[in-house]
Amino acid sequence: MDWGKQNRISSIIKPDTGKTVMLAVDHGYFMGPTSGLEKLDEAVNPLIPYADTLMLTRGALRYYIDPGVRIPITLRVSGGTSILNKEAMLHEGIVCNVEDAIRLNASCVAFSILVGAEYERDTILAFTEVIDEATAYGIPILCVTAVGREMARDARYMGLASRMGAELGADIIKTYYVPGFDKVVESCPVPVVIAGGKKIPEKAALEIARNAIDSGAIGVDMGRNIFQSTSPVGMIQAVRAVVHKGASVKEGLEIFKSVRDKEAGKAIKAKAKPKKARAKK
Ligand code: 5RP
Repeated sequence: MDWGKQNRISSIIKPDTGKTVMLAVDHGYFMGPTSGLEKLDEAVNPLIPYADTLMLTRGALRYYIDPGVRIPITLRVSGGTSILNKEAMLHEGIVCNVEDAIRLNASCVAFSILVGAEYERDTILAFTEVIDEATAYGIPILCVTAVGREMARDARYMGLASRMGAELGADIIKTYYVPGFDKVVESCPVPVVIAGGKKIPEKAALEIARNAIDSGAIGVDMGRNIFQSTSPVGMIQAVRAVVHKGASVKEGLEIFKSVRDKEAGKAIKAKAKPKKARAKK
């Protein structure tokens, strides 16, 4: 692997642990102002210190993120359909070229392939175009697999889609945790991270992260289970402890609760202050 690509990958996958916490906030590219990301900057800024990379679209990056930020960017470069188009949802093509990704100082580009969908061929051929272009400049490619309601979410499917992504040239695979995940990881020659999926209780999301890491995943690329949490900062710290520090679900949950409770305490104090001030007068 070329030095530049290795260097970019090592900015995302931390060399000391070999793991990564990717924060996915790219949902707007097909879902619009997703719940929790209506004001993307306000949602994301407090989370940046705890994420190893920020995964988002070029529009979100330009409109919401301070260019002075010190975090590697994973830029989504596929898209083309919306959540409203149920028939062709995620029939994606290239929506951002590698030249613009370089202009944005992206450390990685992300592309979704729809293995098994009617239009799999279109997504796969567009994906390989991005791979050719990105590889020429030493930019790593994250292959997003298995998004979409109709995708059979079992280890056999995840294994097939992940292996395809790798053989087509991806450097990192993003997929979903399923029972038997160790088989998915074993048969994939490149690192695997998991998406979080729809919001579920914090404990369940931490369990998925723990199980995925124990099965050989090198991290998470998680969105809604962090930014839609009652305490996004607490949740990302908990996920980080699970991924990088080998924390158990119980330990992760304790981190989450302690941050959440501290935040709640501060909010109560802040509310109480003006009342006291009024009482003095
Ligand atoms: C969609 C994506 C999203 O980034 C992905 O869904 C991750 O977010 P979440 O954890 O909310 O599922 O790649 O194609």
